[in-house]
Amino acid sequence: MWTKENLQDLIRDKLGDYLFIVVSNREPYEHVFHRGKIVCRRSAGGLVTALDPVMQACHGLWIAAASADADHKVTDASGKVMVPEENPSYTLKRIWLTKEEEEQYYYGFSNEALWPLCHMVFQRPEFRQEDWDCYAQVNRKFANAILEEIGDRKAFIWIQDYHLCLLPKYLKEMAPNQLILAQFWHIPWPNYEAFRICPQRREILDGLLANDLLGFHIRYHCHNFLDVIDRELESKIDREKFSVTRAEHETLIRPYPISIDFQGIDQDVNSPPVVNAHKNLIDEFDLAGKKVILGIDRMDYTKGIPERILAIDQMLEQHPELKEKVVFLQKGVLSRLHLAQYKDLNDRVQASVEQVNWKHSTTKWKPIILVKRHMTQEEIIALYRLCDVCVVSSLHDGMNLVAKEFIASRHDEDGCLVLSHFTGSARELPDAVLINPYDRVEFGNGIYKALTMNDAERKKRMVKMRAAISSNNIFRWAAKVISELLKFEFKEQVVAL
Ligand code: F6P
Repeated sequence: MWTKENLQDLIRDKLGDYLFIVVSNREPYEHVFHRGKIVCRRSAGGLVTALDPVMQACHGLWIAAASADADHKVTDASGKVMVPEENPSYTLKRIWLTKEEEEQYYYGFSNEALWPLCHMVFQRPEFRQEDWDCYAQVNRKFANAILEEIGDRKAFIWIQDYHLCLLPKYLKEMAPNQLILAQFWHIPWPNYEAFRICPQRREILDGLLANDLLGFHIRYHCHNFLDVIDRELESKIDREKFSVTRAEHETLIRPYPISIDFQGIDQDVNSPPVVNAHKNLIDEFDLAGKKVILGIDRMDYTKGIPERILAIDQMLEQHPELKEKVVFLQKGVLSRLHLAQYKDLNDRVQASVEQVNWKHSTTKWKPIILVKRHMTQEEIIALYRLCDVCVVSSLHDGMNLVAKEFIASRHDEDGCLVLSHFTGSARELPDAVLINPYDRVEFGNGIYKALTMNDAERKKRMVKMRAAISSNNIFRWAAKVISELLKFEFKEQVVAL
């Protein structure tokens, strides 16, 4: 079993004089003004859930774009601050983007072009030349900031996600001999038919192939990537070795199913702050004596939230005896609200909740509670721990770590997971109740099945799911990537995993 300590040993013993740097658009912690004070909060989303425990173990440097109103108040002259606040263990270096850069690089090319391009949810991507130009400009800004930090030292640079496709190429051009580069793609990689509509597809591929190692969640995404390369670029593809060679540079392509700090969450479940939060949440939302169905998501059109509300509606139509006995609590973290598609989604979800509540409510009960307020990590774990059923219904999702966090939180080996077939995590979790979120009847029946499953069956499934996630935890995931990277510099070092 890989632990935080094993990962620390691996890094200390094997990295030699290489700096260890993680780079992403999303910063792991943001500083916000709240009631006249500066508060440090962990950012939402799978990338931070996965990589923050790794960085807390590794004590490296994380470079990311600033995103909150008080970020500049706590950093030093070079944009640095130690995080997390309560246990400073690694350095966050913030990059400052202008409003225009945020608009065109983050909202524009990253989230109106690449995000819908990679997720098969029938949302049309928007390609604007000015967004692409700005995307390139911001990637260069990241490259300059990284090289300024490194000087002439050697470094392993671990790039995250789809916002930084050109960064590896810029880095290798500017510092060809001192860097080992890996990139992890946190979202699905589409098939060729979908990808070929992107006007900048060759530049994107060329940028990514400057990496020494490129990781995806699942093998299927690796195959899609190799197919796209095959059709678009002159290169040599080695399907045995899973690598691409272009202009004499080889990039390894690998599946690494991302995970969570299972043991950390498992330990926190019975900590006093979680136990307190558990009690308070039951009071706040009047949950005592009711079966609780839970959804926790960033409010994103890929997550299948409107479909989930329709499935609850369907189940209550079919099983009116559940009225006053169940409640569906949806925690939605507001996200990318500046974009019209996200604002529309919020309005649609709100309207749909009101409609379903109107249809089924009684004088003393309504079936759906929509919560948008910020919740602490302790409150989130308490929600996982108190619910009877957790629903993850993404229309398409690279992995989905809500499913894995829910399982880690069930130290009591109770609770049932309803999970979309179209998530990466469905491949590791066949013991969930698997559903097609597009099929309202199947989805409604799936939630009903989970709610009414007998105790022995529920426990049997949870025990198996916990065993799967406990061994493939985030430290093993990080160790696999780092061990592969080590081989580039230290050929004799092969770490058994
Ligand atoms: O998982 C994909 C991803 O873009 C991550 O990079 C990020 O953690 C999450 O979605 C949230 O997105 P954003 O950074 O745009 O809030």
